[in-house]
Amino acid sequence: MSNHTLAPAAALTALLALSLPAAAAEPFHDADIEAGEQMHAELCVGCHADKFGDQDGSTIYLRDDRRITTPSGLEQQLTACTTMLNLDLFPEDERNIAGYLNKQYYKFK
Ligand code: HEC
Repeated sequence: MSNHTLAPAAALTALLALSLPAAAAEPFHDADIEAGEQMHAELCVGCHADKFGDQDGSTIYLRDDRRITTPSGLEQQLTACTTMLNLDLFPEDERNIAGYLNKQYYKFK
């Protein structure tokens, strides 16, 4: 488990360079949405999709009784999942994923 590597650093750096500054009003405005989307697809979608029987793993975020109702709730649940998985992500990575989830699903302002 300790050797688990994510996308190569070069690819992440390229994504960072490409991303445009997002609107400052958003809760995760400094997140790199594209990097977050990529990590989310790699690490998170499979299990969520299995659990809810959908293709893209979106049901978990869009269900009526979803758990997340605030930006800080999103950060907490995200950390709960990554801790459970022993992923050992950098805080920036978690922030990028949170930013992606917020942009795509939760849309907190
Ligand atoms: C091994 C399975 C598994 C993996 C992999 C996984 N999760 Fe989850 N996740 C769950 C389960 C199960 C729940 C639902 C918990 C509940 O409803 O009590 C959940 C719920 C969530 C929620 C709350 C959704 C809502 O609004 O109700 C978020 C956010 C989340 N996961 C983020 C992530 C992220 C980000 C990753 C990847 C880094 C990830 N999860 C990987 C199993 C997983």
